[in-house]
Amino acid sequence: MSAPVLTEPPAGLDDLSVFPASAVRLPHGDLSVGGVSLADLADRFGTPAYVLDEAEVRTRCRTYRAAFPEAHVLYAAKAFLSRAMARWIEEEGLGLDVCSVGELELAHAAGFPPERMVLHGNAKTPRDIETALRLGVGRIVVDSPSEIARIAALTGPAGRQKVMVRVVPGVSAGGHEKIRTGTDGQKFGLSLTDGSAQHAIARVLGQPQLELTGLHCHIGSQITDVKPYLVAVRRMVGLMARIKESHGVTFSELDMGGGHGVAYRPGEAALDLTALARRLGAELATGCASAGLPVPRLAVEPGRAIAAPAGVALYRVLSVKHTGPNTFVAVDGGMSDNPRPALYGARYAPRLIGRAATAGPVAATVVGRHCEAGDILANDVLLPADIRTGDLLAVPVAGAYQVSMASAYNLVGRPPVVAVHEGAARLLIRRETQEDLRQRDIGG
Ligand code: LLP
Repeated sequence: MSAPVLTEPPAGLDDLSVFPASAVRLPHGDLSVGGVSLADLADRFGTPAYVLDEAEVRTRCRTYRAAFPEAHVLYAAKAFLSRAMARWIEEEGLGLDVCSVGELELAHAAGFPPERMVLHGNAKTPRDIETALRLGVGRIVVDSPSEIARIAALTGPAGRQKVMVRVVPGVSAGGHEKIRTGTDGQKFGLSLTDGSAQHAIARVLGQPQLELTGLHCHIGSQITDVKPYLVAVRRMVGLMARIKESHGVTFSELDMGGGHGVAYRPGEAALDLTALARRLGAELATGCASAGLPVPRLAVEPGRAIAAPAGVALYRVLSVKHTGPNTFVAVDGGMSDNPRPALYGARYAPRLIGRAATAGPVAATVVGRHCEAGDILANDVLLPADIRTGDLLAVPVAGAYQVSMASAYNLVGRPPVVAVHEGAARLLIRRETQEDLRQRDIGG
């Protein structure tokens, strides 16, 4: 028996609020983004495919710069990176947070100035560090005691590298346990509570090759409330005051990381950037004033909030199966292009595009094509009851941590990324083909 068909379309089914601002309804149930029909894109580039609205990315960069006019805004490349993306970020005047030689070299190849990059990583490889030093990245963020001497040694006696120290402020925040990085008991950073942050700072200050410009923290991801940032900034100011007392040193910058949450489904909350900027700035200024510290320049590192809302994933329905009370709508992608539902229980709001629905909504589960029951893209969503093989689904808020975390599970190639802008579409990343996958296997 299939799930009951609802007669009244619930509010939200036709809501475009989480699509890029350029999204416009077209006749016959189609949708255009960046002036391009999504159904046409699916025909032209095949499915699954990821669409990225250039104007949405640029607008979001500008929103950050306007909200944080005095701060340094760095885009976290891990959310999504391509050469075009690096150029847009560069042109919009943001810096770049990279965390591997791969991200570093791709951005560099796209012309991104290394001095505007910050290198992160809890386990930096020798190549990560060597490349960062050779290309001249602006900052390296020290994440463990053992890398202090390594970075200093690789810098060489004549060199001097600007570094920051990543501190764990003891603040729990984030959309899921796996993306909470502000407390002890997880792998990132140096603890404030057990003294390892202070210890590492002292060691960095003792290295003539390293110039400690400031402290860093990143408390988690998909945070929709300002308060955890305020607690974190207070603790960071407390630490800066203790460092001044014990070493007579003050810092010129304070990087509060990223983690700014977005709405994935209509009606969900997003972090209020203006409130964050205002309250973070005020908290920092008051804290520094009462501790007698100069106010360091703030830095923020948004990834998701810039990329996610600019992306739309397109899938074609391969089968619709009614099993007991469930309607399983199986599409031609899945956990290989979007592991987020499986990893973090992330929820999405897919919608039918390319034709008008002729039936009321039904509760359905959108699943992928991979060989495990957990390969679910969207659980318990409303889709038209006449959903059928060959239909197209568009999943909004797909621009972050999907393509960048995609795998070739089941030897399904990774999808292409198509940029849309002012009515034109252009391929940024081509589809990974069977030939690509075969070539890597050298047969031995
Ligand atoms: N800065 C640092 C040091 C980070 O580790 C991260 C993200 C960011 C900035 C950017 O955070 P955002 O603004 O994007 O939240 N794969 C997970 C998210 C992992 C976040 C990793 N670090 C997801 O799909 O939800």
